[in-house]
Amino acid sequence: MAKYSGITSKQLLPIVHVLAILVLVILIVWNYYFRGGFGLSGNAVFNLHPVFMFAAFGYLSGQAILVYKTVDGDKTYQKAVHLTLNGVAVLVALVGVAAAYKFHLDNKFDNFYSLHSWFGITTIIFYLVQWILGFVSFWTQSIPSAQRAEVLPWHVFFGFTTFVLALVTIQLGLLEKLTFLQKGSPPLGLWSREALLVNSLGIIVFIYGAIVVLSALIPHPTAQEGYRSLE
Ligand code: HEM
Ligand code: HEM
Repeated sequence: MAKYSGITSKQLLPIVHVLAILVLVILIVWNYYFRGGFGLSGNAVFNLHPVFMFAAFGYLSGQAILVYKTVDGDKTYQKAVHLTLNGVAVLVALVGVAAAYKFHLDNKFDNFYSLHSWFGITTIIFYLVQWILGFVSFWTQSIPSAQRAEVLPWHVFFGFTTFVLALVTIQLGLLEKLTFLQKGSPPLGLWSREALLVNSLGIIVFIYGAIVVLSALIPHPTAQEGYRSLE
């Protein structure tokens, strides 16, 4: 039987989009209806954080990873889309972190104390390093082809690791926010509609991540066994 039962990445792409849009809609509904909406100060500025972070490292970066399997065109075109989507993801993420940082600063809260924020900083640093090294190695091709062949599997490994790290960070962020709310005054009910919505969100994010990874693992239908082009 064909690898992965003959399923192609392109067939999975609509599911990837639907799940990502569902996550974004739930994040917006949650922060708009339950948390007071969006703005540039107070809680409203913090509420931008989860939406921007998933849009960046969940949706945009997930699409960037799938480019080689789902976007038609030559390798140069695919690389251009891959590096642009990942680059925009990093910029959107920086705005998202600035929103959380401003909220902490305005309220004189400590910064960078939680495991979520440590993973968050690490994710952003990994994305930046991965992008710069990817750009130098595969776009400008300023290293010899033998070294590019050496670097590529590591690029792929660190790319997936960084994407998974981002997904873990998102889950920790959801948990962090929910824990604050459940210990707040008045405390959010453990079985409240809002708590159930956020838990469900975490499950959908997990399923989304799993399908992105599956789509990236499925070989391109025209790929030869063990072959990875270095053009
Ligand atoms: C990959 C995605 C994410 C990254 C890289 C990230 C990164 C960060 C960073 C660096 C901070 C520290 C800000 C500061 O201390 O000034 C922070 C704070 C926070 N984030 Fe996220 N975040 C992400 C997603 C989320 C999501 C989806 C939520 C869900 C609500 C969330 C909830 C929070 C909360 C509650 C805080 C304040 C408490 C704390 O510092 O841990 N984050 N985030
Ligand atoms: C934060 C930035 C980046 C991340 C997270 C990332 C992640 C990944 C991942 C996960 C793959 C494996 C995709 C697959 O097997 O289908 C990959 C492949 C690749 N990436 Fe990146 N990448 C980043 C930046 C870049 C940049 C800036 C370039 C420059 C052009 C680049 C060039 C490539 C190339 C040439 C491949 C191999 C495609 C193939 O032949 O299968 N990447 N990247």
